[in-house]
This record gives sequence, structure tokens and C-alpha cells, in this order.
Amino acid sequence: MSAIDYFEKIPNNVDLANDRTLQRALEHWQPRFLEWWREMGPNDFASAEVYLRTAVGVDAQGWAHYGTVKMPEYRWGIFLADPIADRAIGFGDSFGQPVWQQVPGEFRSQFRRLIVTQGDTEPASVEQQHRLGHTCPSLYDLRNLFQINVEEGRHLWAMVYILHAYFGRDGREEAEELLARHSGDVDKPRILGTFNEPIEDWLSFFCFCYFTDRDGKFQLKSLAESSFDPLARTCRFMLTEEAHHMFVGETGLGRIVRRTLEVMKEIGRDDPEAIRRQGAVDLPLLQRYLNFWFSSSLDLFGSEVSSNAATTFANGIKGRPDETTQYQDHVCADSTFEIEVPDGKGGVMKDTSPMRNAMNEVLRDAYIRDCEIGLKRWNMQIKRAGYNFELKLPSNRFRRAIGAWANIPTDLEGHPVSREEHDRRMPGWLPSASDRDYVKSLMQRVAEPGKMAAWIAPPDRGINNLSLDYEYVRLD
Ligand SMILES: [Fe+2]
Ligand SMILES: [Fe+2]
Repeated sequence: MSAIDYFEKIPNNVDLANDRTLQRALEHWQPRFLEWWREMGPNDFASAEVYLRTAVGVDAQGWAHYGTVKMPEYRWGIFLADPIADRAIGFGDSFGQPVWQQVPGEFRSQFRRLIVTQGDTEPASVEQQHRLGHTCPSLYDLRNLFQINVEEGRHLWAMVYILHAYFGRDGREEAEELLARHSGDVDKPRILGTFNEPIEDWLSFFCFCYFTDRDGKFQLKSLAESSFDPLARTCRFMLTEEAHHMFVGETGLGRIVRRTLEVMKEIGRDDPEAIRRQGAVDLPLLQRYLNFWFSSSLDLFGSEVSSNAATTFANGIKGRPDETTQYQDHVCADSTFEIEVPDGKGGVMKDTSPMRNAMNEVLRDAYIRDCEIGLKRWNMQIKRAGYNFELKLPSNRFRRAIGAWANIPTDLEGHPVSREEHDRRMPGWLPSASDRDYVKSLMQRVAEPGKMAAWIAPPDRGINNLSLDYEYVRLD
């Protein structure tokens, strides 16, 4: 395992000290990053002492160190997973050849676009979440929010390292731009739609971690297959950190469900008004939040049929998640994939696409299967509590803004409906203004160690074997 050097100005395991030019470029970028963090990050909590984990190694076992840190003093650095000896290209036209340690000139712009798009999402999420600390449901949750924030900051570092180290001047300019665009900014928004959506309450935050961060996981998994080895290694280590973000989303939503079920049991009723009078989140309201974040996140995968997707696969730039273990055919030169498209007459029809062109859809399908795991678990909880209610993912045709179904009105099951019906029923499908107001009214800060807001159950256990009433964040 390669050790991380914390004596350096920029902690790293890439031997930065022996590459003076790169080191200087990154040291030049570092104060800008810190300035961005101070302005756009959780800036009202700069002096809070937070119980955070920091990477100390890059192997799966024991990679992290836990300790109390003020966020601006967090040691953001550059950590790549260790190289795999004799790693060969795992997919596409160059299948079986040795992986690349440099970016081939002919693929440079494709790589750059992918890296910039990935890099853009990392600071975007920090910006989206920057006021949430004021309304945390517990110190445990506050700590998790901050852990995610510092790690998304580190993911930005991960992408900036690749840009600086392998893309010369273009890369340095892109790295500047990553700090210049801002989530929701009218003039310079973030690149992808979902990353411009405001996250103003914790229900949205947990949905974001569950659905949108999970898109991130799938993008990272497919970049971890890349033939450009430094990118693959960077993404592999990012995935180690990402697992916690998935955990926060899944357990956050699960704890909301658990609390709601407790309230339903206490009052012996399941109508939303009665549940809201007890200050909990009724399940239909939760369903509408799921509908919103799931449908928004589906667009992040792009169009069902895409020549771009075909080229990045053919060229060995971006593979499929778990390429080696999940698939037999790694070349996909003449296989096909069946997709469902609008038939132009208000219905659905099947269409066949060359497999390579359908890679976005292959990824989206895998993502949807992964999203279903949590819902199954929550539905078990609901069923065990004796209620006849099922949380569902809407159809992947519902409320799409990108691809074959863009702007085609459908109901939650994906059946095309008239525009009139669509608009009329929408308040039952997505959070309404009054839903949002209600959720907002729940957002009162609980900051006493061990205490939880009334709308969420406590977690099963604390962080790193500490008790639940540990003071995970010391506010002053
Ligand atoms: Fe990330
Ligand atoms: Fe994440």
C-alpha cells in the first residue's frame, strides 16, 4: 500500500514532491479552493469541531483515521488506489491491451469532458447543501453532512489532480472553471440539471444522497473501468468514500420511515393530516419527494441512444460498472439492446439499438436496480408494521427532460397521458408548495447530544463505535 504523506502542503500518495511543476500548479490552486470553501461551503460552521474521518491509506481495510477537526483545517489531498499489476484494458476496441498511463491524444477532449463533468458535480453538491447545518435533526446527522461535504471537496481535488497532471494548460483552466460555476447560478450554473436544484431541507438531502449520489457511484464505477489508469485508480478510491454517502441516504430515509410508522402506531391512524399533527412525515409525502429526486437523477445518465456513449465505450474511455464481473461480452461490437420509446401516437413501442449506443441505458438500468434495494427494505418495515402502503419508484419515463421521453407527459407508471391530465395530476406526484412548507416547518435544529428531531428515528448505532449521545459536532 502506498502511504499518504501528511507532511506535505498537499497530502498525497502520488509523489508530488518529485514533480515540482505539478506541485506548484496545485499549490497555486489550493488557496482558491480554500477561498471557494469559505464562501460556498458550510461557512457558518467554520469554527465547529467536527468528528471526521480522514484518509490515511488507500486500501479497503483501515484506510481512515477519525478525529476532531475544524472543517477549514481538513486535510484535502490526492489519493489514488494502488495500481493493479499488468492491468489490461477491460472493454471496447482495445480489449486486452495494456492500460494507458497517459491520455492518448485522439481521446483527449472526450476524457476532458467526462472528467470536467464529474468534477463539476462534487463542489456543486457542497454548494447545494451549504445552509443545511442550521436545521440539522441531530448532531449525528450534522456530522454526517459535514463528512460528506469535506469528501465531496476531496473528490473535487481528485478530478483537479487529473486535470492538472494530464491535461496541461487546458486542464488548469478547467480547474479554475470548476470553482467559477455555482449551483443554481443564473449566469454560470453547474453543468448538470440536478446539481442546480436547491436542497433546502433534510428530506431533500437524504433523497439527494440516496438518488443523486448514487448516480455518482455509478459514474465513478464506470470510470473506474477506464483504460486511462490514473483516472481508474482515482475513481476507485473515490468509491471507498462514496459508500458512506450512500449509507447516509439509505439510513436517513429508513429512519424517517421508522419514525412515521411509530407515530402511526401511537395514534392508530394513517391519514396524512393526523400524522402531520404529530410532526412526522406521512408516507405519501415521502413518496412525492422520492418521485422528484429519482426522476431528476435519471436524466443524469443521458439519452437512451447516444453516439457519444458508443464512442466512449469503443475507445475504452468509460466502461460499465463492474465490467469484469457482470458481463461476458466486453467488446459489444455486434450485440443489441432493446429500449422502449414513444410510438408517436401516444403509446410505447420497442426499438432495438446497437449495444454500444445504448450504454447510457445499460447504466441507468443498473442504477434503477440499485435504487430498488432501499425501497424493498423500507417496504418490509411498513409491511411488518401492518400497513398496506408501498413506496415505489416511478417509471423511468416519468418527468424526463433528456432522451426519448423528454417532455412527453406520462403518469407515474410511465403511461403517456394528455398534457392536461398530466398537469392536473402533478400535485399528487411531486411535492406541492404546501408539502414543502410543511417539511420546512419541521426543519428545527436539534443540537443536544443524543437528541433527535421528532420526524426521524435515531440511527442503530453511532459513528466509529461511539455512542449515539457522543458530541459529534462541538458548536460554539
Ligand atoms: Fe463525490
Ligand atoms: Fe458523494
